[in-house]
Amino acid sequence: MKDTAPRTTRLADYRPFGWRVTEVHLTFRLAPGATRVLSRIRFAPLDHAPARMTLDGEGLTLISALIDGAPVSPDLTTDGLTVDVPPAPFLWEAEVEIAPEGNTALEGLYMSGGIYCTQCEAEGFRRITYYPDRPDVMAPFTVRIESDLPVLLSNGNPTGSGPGFAEWHDPWPKPSYLFALVAGNLVATSASFQTAEGRDVELNVWVRPGDEGRTGYALDSLIRSMRWDEDRFGRVYDLDVFNIVAVDDFNAGAMENKGLNIFNSKYVLASPETATDRDFEGIEAVVAHEYFHNWTGNRITCRDWFQLCLKEGLTVYRDQEFTSDMRSRAVKRIEDALLLRAAQFREDAGPLAHPPRPDTYVEINNFYTVTVYEKGAEVVRMLASVLGPETFATGLELYFARHDGHAATIEEFFACFQEVAGDTLDGFARWWTEAGTPRVTVSRHWDGETLTLSVRQETLGGPRWIPLAVGLLGPDGEEIAPTTLLTLKDTEAHWRYVPSTATWETCSAPNGQPKTDGAPLPSINRGFSAPVLLEAGMTDAERRLIFGHDTDPFNRWDAGRQLIRAGFIGLVTEDREPDPETLAAMGRAVRDDALDPAFRALVMGLPSDDDIAQTLAEAGRTPDPDLIETGRERLREAIAALLAGDLRRLYADLAPVGPYRPDADGAGRRALRCAALSCLSVVDGPDAARALYSQADNMTERLAALSVLLRLGAAEDALADFHARWSRTPDVLDKWFALQVGSVKGSRAVETALRLTRHPDFDWRRPNRVRSVLGTMLRHHAGFHSADGAGYKVAADWIVRLDPANPQLAAGLTSPFQTWRRYDGDRQGMMRDALERIASADGLSRDTSEMVGRILG
Ligand code: ARG
Ligand code: ZN
Repeated sequence: MKDTAPRTTRLADYRPFGWRVTEVHLTFRLAPGATRVLSRIRFAPLDHAPARMTLDGEGLTLISALIDGAPVSPDLTTDGLTVDVPPAPFLWEAEVEIAPEGNTALEGLYMSGGIYCTQCEAEGFRRITYYPDRPDVMAPFTVRIESDLPVLLSNGNPTGSGPGFAEWHDPWPKPSYLFALVAGNLVATSASFQTAEGRDVELNVWVRPGDEGRTGYALDSLIRSMRWDEDRFGRVYDLDVFNIVAVDDFNAGAMENKGLNIFNSKYVLASPETATDRDFEGIEAVVAHEYFHNWTGNRITCRDWFQLCLKEGLTVYRDQEFTSDMRSRAVKRIEDALLLRAAQFREDAGPLAHPPRPDTYVEINNFYTVTVYEKGAEVVRMLASVLGPETFATGLELYFARHDGHAATIEEFFACFQEVAGDTLDGFARWWTEAGTPRVTVSRHWDGETLTLSVRQETLGGPRWIPLAVGLLGPDGEEIAPTTLLTLKDTEAHWRYVPSTATWETCSAPNGQPKTDGAPLPSINRGFSAPVLLEAGMTDAERRLIFGHDTDPFNRWDAGRQLIRAGFIGLVTEDREPDPETLAAMGRAVRDDALDPAFRALVMGLPSDDDIAQTLAEAGRTPDPDLIETGRERLREAIAALLAGDLRRLYADLAPVGPYRPDADGAGRRALRCAALSCLSVVDGPDAARALYSQADNMTERLAALSVLLRLGAAEDALADFHARWSRTPDVLDKWFALQVGSVKGSRAVETALRLTRHPDFDWRRPNRVRSVLGTMLRHHAGFHSADGAGYKVAADWIVRLDPANPQLAAGLTSPFQTWRRYDGDRQGMMRDALERIASADGLSRDTSEMVGRILG
């Protein structure tokens, strides 16, 4: 039985476990309805060990338990057992029965399309056997799997196999959340890799027969990740095999189990015909992310789940660096900032706000968030900026050397950097322990000779270190001062620029009448050096200067974005036509062949409806989702009308020159070409999209064309064709579902989602399918918020329905409700009703009830 009592876990209550685990032996006798798990575990008491031991366990049927060979009768509870134990080292043996076939929560041991697989992070191992299921208990595991299935995998190195069994040994002590087992009819694409230490490693990517033609990119990404981690961070792989397995049913993206990573097939399978450029980039990043965990997560793990960002923030930072090296650093930075601002700033501004290292939780699965992952990565990035590359590298080396084999904390990580910096960085650490996005205001004072910047921060807690990369532009946009890092450490500081030495020095508050003539223009927070809300009091003309000339690609893009956002807001709130000068500046950038096409595509991207709603809410206005959606259409029309000629030329010029390649250059060209097509279709209609749909040799263009056709209501044939081609390829069919919901307007998104939930290919047991249909509807701003409340109702119905089967999936779907207080009274009332209806569902999971409770506040 799932425990539904709202039990809060607190960081302050952390106590170490009373025993060391010196050895774990597991035997699995696999059967879909009744798998037997035999465990032999050696415990050694620590000084503070009590006389009774508590082990975690959920949904297990205990068959027998022995201590040092003698039968014992533990007291069973809903979440584990307690048992009297001797005050000396002892052997615990237990046999339990579990039913992987009926496991729809996809936590612990479950089945996906006939394949046995596991997901143990964060607390799934307790659904496999009784164990101290906490990350600070680390032990070497030996595993025997008994089954007639052809492929039997677990962590570590293979140590033996024969008819009906296989044995594995993992020499590296690990916590239970990194345990994994896979059994099934699978085929591998393989390669070998020689590490810098001379170890030959066998690499395998395992998939269902039939999918082996789509594993090449994942395997190649793995090889590049392994080499890169050696070169960049000196991290070398430490086993003789590295296995990746793709399964179709998976709650998350992928999982870094030691030597046996298990992936959502969406992040493995790719061919030009089935995967978009974005999919290829995602596969490369997720394969790298999971591989990088081998050091940041596995060799050094987390003491408790409050420290989740110790492994996730650091590993996301590492995968972002990898992608930047493999592709375009500038483009990657913009993409990451887009995600951070869209999802993390929103989280930080609402009822789900939490620090990257929270100090309480009810259900830890609810804390695999953009704050823990992406903001956690930003904090590591800022640490690298304030320390400089050498000191940061030395601190990281110290961390790897000092904590290898341990379960560490954020404080221990941070101490390594303080030590090598020989300095106290106290104000920096608030980034981990305090929630909220700092607001930074910069004012300028020019006295005719000297420019002084006054910088202030507003945070919920004390002042944080805020590293701002700053440069100066002259009146014609020429760079007159190179990028310098100014780190704000207090609430307020002043810096003045000294041209003779090209340096900035701190100073007192400027006084005297400011002048305007000939003042240099600061370009602030270059490269998004700090994840803050910046108010620098720029005029539109100044933004255009930065947009047209800055040497920093991030600030160029961002200035353009601010101009477009202002135009968008003007359209929505005052019915004001977009400023022609802004559109002309955008046109110049889009036409500029000296700029990377990927960057130009990003310049063409409009802020999302949710972004506009958030901006309005911050300004104290009530967003109207329909007006926002219409505003976007009109903005697109205005851009199309102004740029049609250029866009037609771009569309023709960017036609593919050779066969599809999923590299950054090709992807950038396609992104710009597809952006041009989409914009042009507003004035030119569906012909070009129809032609592209049938001629494209790749999924990127085919899907872009289909999206345009859907928006124009001209997609019937293409939709049928797409379904006929891909109805037996689940990862591609997911796109077919998602695109239909995502490409129509307003309440039609809800109707479409509802209709698709009745489609014969809709299967509510598959998380990817559910997210394609319902997740897309929930993210469709005008659809989810349609005035009749239909979006809220469909969402609540499905959350209530999914919750008993898969709590993690259901809880994840509640998050779009987090912005409910932004909207008008009617919508607020309907959202509150929907949330309350979910809250009152019988036997609601801990996952969903915590989310709903936090959202309602
Ligand atoms: N550690 C995995 C990763 O980031 C994700 C695990 C997700 N688990 C969960 N309970 N949400 O690579
Ligand atoms: Zn991770």
